Amino acid sequence: MSIQVNPDWWKTMFDEVYLLTDARSVCDQDLTRREVDLICELLPIRPGHRILDLCGGHGRHSFELYDRGFLKCTLVDYSRHLIERAKVQAAENSCSMEIMRSDAREIGLRSNSFDHVCILGNSIGYQKRKEADRQIFNEAKRLLCSGGWFLVDVTDGAAVRKSFRPLAWHEIEDDIVVCRERQLIGNSIHAREMVLSKSKGLIRDNTYSIRLYDAHDLEKSLEQTGFRHIKVITGQTPHRERGDYGFMNHRMIGIGKKI
Ligand SMILES: C[S@@+](CC[C@H](N)C(=O)[O-])C[C@H]1O[C@@H](n2cnc3c(N)ncnc32)[C@H](O)[C@@H]1O
Repeated sequence: MSIQVNPDWWKTMFDEVYLLTDARSVCDQDLTRREVDLICELLPIRPGHRILDLCGGHGRHSFELYDRGFLKCTLVDYSRHLIERAKVQAAENSCSMEIMRSDAREIGLRSNSFDHVCILGNSIGYQKRKEADRQIFNEAKRLLCSGGWFLVDVTDGAAVRKSFRPLAWHEIEDDIVVCRERQLIGNSIHAREMVLSKSKGLIRDNTYSIRLYDAHDLEKSLEQTGFRHIKVITGQTPHRERGDYGFMNHRMIGIGKKI
């Protein structure tokens, strides 16, 4: 039986449980540093540049960039929980970055107001219609100033298909077990995720679906958005230890310039 998915799954999934289930990828400071090292290698980022971390979750890349002296960072994400958490972290560290909750398809910010827009950590392909990703890319381009750079870091669909595993599970410390069942349906992966606490019982039983891009699709999407000087780099894996990190395992990075 195929896994049924509520098309709005992405509106509620990114909460405190996500920060547990994906902690190996999104709460690992060393890994985030390596990701930011790569961003700084690929983009001509200079102190004083305005950087938008779009679909930036709890802001791990923004905070790392800010700590490196890139003080004009803006974090945008849809998740109320993650945005509230980022605001608390910013207040605790007297960090002046702008943090706002918004849908990436339509953000209430002025056009031409950023030197770089980044979408990191596999944050596209969540909505059923491919048009939604196109809207997000168009919005990124609108917000960039001319000469600005867009960077998107997404799961490499070809690599995911090659190493596809229908079942995966991992433990978090002594108490939590995360079990994932996956189906490859057309161009998407549908997944059911059960999160169990050995002491408290079932914490989550949810489904989600993510559309896969291969390098050619990503390049075409960047081209159709109107970016130039496009490059897609495959074979990226920020994890040092082998393991099944879901969509965070095999990544590719696309960059393009707004002319
Ligand atoms: C896998 S998380 C990655 C978060 C962050 N980029 C990172 O690497 O830690 C995906 C994020 O994309 C956000 N997201 C997905 N679709 C969005 C949309 N249409 N508008 C704003 N945020 C969105 C989710 O709320 C979630 O925080």
